[in-house]
Amino acid sequence: MSNRASMIVDKDFTIGQVDDRIYGSFIEHLGRAVYGGIYEPGHPTADGNGFRLDVLEAVRQLNVPIIRYPGGNFVSGYNWEDGVGPREERKRKLELAWWTTETNAIGTNEFADWAKLAGSEVMMAVNLGTRGVDAARNLVEYCNHPSGSYWSDLRVSHGYKEPHAFKTWCLGNEMDGPWQIGAKTAVEYGRLANETAKAMRWVDPGLELVACGSSGSSMNTFAEWEATVLDLCYDNVDFLSLHTYYNNNKGDTPNFLASSLDMDHFIDSVAAICDYIQAKKKSKKKIYLSMDEWNVWKTQGSSRAEQRWQVGPPEFEDVYNLEDALVVGCCLISLLKHADRVKMACLAQLVNVIAPISTENGGPLWLQTTYFPYLHASLYGRGTVLHPMISSPKYDAKDFTDVPYLEAVSVYNEELQEVTVFAVNRHLTEGLDLTVDLRSFGKISVLEHLVLENEDLKAANTKDNPHNVRPHSRGNAIQDNGQIRALLAKASWNVIRLKIS
Ligand code: AHR
Repeated sequence: MSNRASMIVDKDFTIGQVDDRIYGSFIEHLGRAVYGGIYEPGHPTADGNGFRLDVLEAVRQLNVPIIRYPGGNFVSGYNWEDGVGPREERKRKLELAWWTTETNAIGTNEFADWAKLAGSEVMMAVNLGTRGVDAARNLVEYCNHPSGSYWSDLRVSHGYKEPHAFKTWCLGNEMDGPWQIGAKTAVEYGRLANETAKAMRWVDPGLELVACGSSGSSMNTFAEWEATVLDLCYDNVDFLSLHTYYNNNKGDTPNFLASSLDMDHFIDSVAAICDYIQAKKKSKKKIYLSMDEWNVWKTQGSSRAEQRWQVGPPEFEDVYNLEDALVVGCCLISLLKHADRVKMACLAQLVNVIAPISTENGGPLWLQTTYFPYLHASLYGRGTVLHPMISSPKYDAKDFTDVPYLEAVSVYNEELQEVTVFAVNRHLTEGLDLTVDLRSFGKISVLEHLVLENEDLKAANTKDNPHNVRPHSRGNAIQDNGQIRALLAKASWNVIRLKIS
């Protein structure tokens, strides 16, 4: 049995240009993301700096444009000065966000080196929990000022003659969360963000700054926080952050698969708040959105190392299955559908901690199911997003009504003369007979139809079975009389790549 769905796209009906930074990710000093993840001296693949080359290769394949660092909750207690200078002199400190010991073996300069090798920009975060204007403006001077001042010369003396030129900076992290070191009220944070932003920009006028939205749309602070904070720092920031995580811990898969409808609504709500403040201020400036933490997170709430003060303990090492990958795929489609407003996004996180890449200390690396939709979107989802006019059968779930079985969007890459259709069939038992009408493109042919599917929704990749869930290119999309037709398998992620000739 199969249902029918259709999609019409026209190259003149565009949503917006994809900002490549929506395919960003995140490395925090948390669990084994840094220690045992990107950095493991003594590992058989480690280079002279202790960076695992197997991890670097898996990250490079993803073509990650920007990586947020060093936190997350970690940043709210971090003294960046502890992580620079001769390694043997660096202090070991108690890390209060995750109750670990931070050796400071990796700090700003090493991470900049690693990001360069990965082919990524760094999205730096400053500590507005225990610190403020002074530490933030010094860090900008250290990282971005060429030389001739105390902090820039210190960087040079640490072996970094050229400035790092980090452009994008987060003004703290989740400052409304009671779990945050130095949590603040919206007024306290809005004022601090404004003053910090001013000083940071006085050091480097080229910075792009992200103010913290509330830590999630379910927070009591949500909406009022966004409005108050923006009211206080509107002129000095460029982005507002959004964070969201989903899981199927209640075991309701149809509801879980509809999670991206929540993401759609979240984005629309925050955009509306930004526009409200813009209207209130009679400003010409538009605030853009940075979804700088999003993912499926199943172990959320298990919080913090069971045994305190370890170095790099395993934490939040979620094992992702097919249904998790479908939700990640739907969320990527949601981000694309909001390409006019969401200009940055970070899959949280990148290695070992709620991550698409897993490693064993001293052992192998394997790719989680979620790696693949992220890879496909990053590789093929660059260009202009076209308005998807979709007709699909729908279902109702516990928290959502009218959930379309088809979640889809298409991206037109003018340079390559390619259109890519990203599509998820949410139906758990039936295929979806899809017709895509691309009438404005003229002659079109199918380059490839990639599919991620498995008989078992709970199938996952593990160290012992790393190839269990892998995409294949045996999808059945065909060109039929100017239209594309494909039978999307039940519960599947699909990437239909088309050539315009
Ligand atoms: O990504 C894991 C954690 O989730 C981050 O440290 C924090 O910002 C969020 O609550």
